[in-house]
Amino acid sequence: MSTSILSVSNLKKNFGGIPAIGDFSLELGAHEFCGVIGPNGAGKTTLMNLITGYAKPDSGTIVFEGRGIVGLRPYQCCRLGIARTFQIVRPFPDMTVLENVLTGALFSGDGAGTAKRERTDATARCVELLELVGLGDRLDVSAGILTLGEKKRLELARSLATQPKLLLLDEVLGGLSEQEIEQISIALRKVHQKGTAILMIEHVIRALVKLVDRLVVLNFGRNICDGKPADVLEHPDVIESYLGKSLPNLPMQGTGS
Ligand SMILES: Nc1ncnc2c1ncn2[C@@H]1O[C@H](COP(=O)(O)OP(=O)(O)OP(=O)(O)O)[C@@H](O)[C@H]1O
Ligand SMILES: [Mg+2]
Repeated sequence: MSTSILSVSNLKKNFGGIPAIGDFSLELGAHEFCGVIGPNGAGKTTLMNLITGYAKPDSGTIVFEGRGIVGLRPYQCCRLGIARTFQIVRPFPDMTVLENVLTGALFSGDGAGTAKRERTDATARCVELLELVGLGDRLDVSAGILTLGEKKRLELARSLATQPKLLLLDEVLGGLSEQEIEQISIALRKVHQKGTAILMIEHVIRALVKLVDRLVVLNFGRNICDGKPADVLEHPDVIESYLGKSLPNLPMQGTGS
């Protein structure tokens, strides 16, 4: 594996005495594109909340680029280079699409200065990101009136505006049309090719496996399988706990389909 960007060890998180994450460990390389799958309630969003400072583990360590980050606030994790999207989208509804994305750019420090030049540069970069996710013609529209698919793409652009080294995606493809899934998939491939590590929680398996080179499976807060997508999807424990049946002939990442 390439140099590690994220190292999660023996992570535990209980809610009311019930484990949501139980002794979970994961090593992610700096150039990996890794999918996270598992049944509803398996602990996927909780894991993401722990990595991004939205929740604090009961025990265990999380190391990002060699630095322990347990106890940091979400904005501190973001400034270190960890961005995320939310399963339930959260745009600022009264701001325009472009302003929403600018919040990401300005918050992360890019353009935060008062110099006009910096703000102009940040705006140009945000417009580029909105074009990347297919919202280039919606810049001046209020975010509140966007469709769900558009809001999800806006959320992705806003997270990218923080210029993350590690991007965490929580069901960014859920509820989208085939065309929107394809649009986001193209954007994510480009983001990954430019050097961002991606951890992608997703239930839309057929789209996920066209993107990722590794799959991790969570069940009851534990990592029950981790490896090449083709092997993981054929693993009996994964079929029993999540898939229900084997999914033959799925086009995978790297197969050119
Ligand atoms: N803030 C919370 N308070 C109490 N219980 C919680 C909280 N957050 C999550 N849980 C519980 O932790 C478990 C894991 O939930 P989580 O949302 O992480 O699952 P998930 O894998 O993301 O599921 P889904 O695929 O449905 O999004 C569930 O049993 C859930 O009810
Ligand atoms: Mg979830």
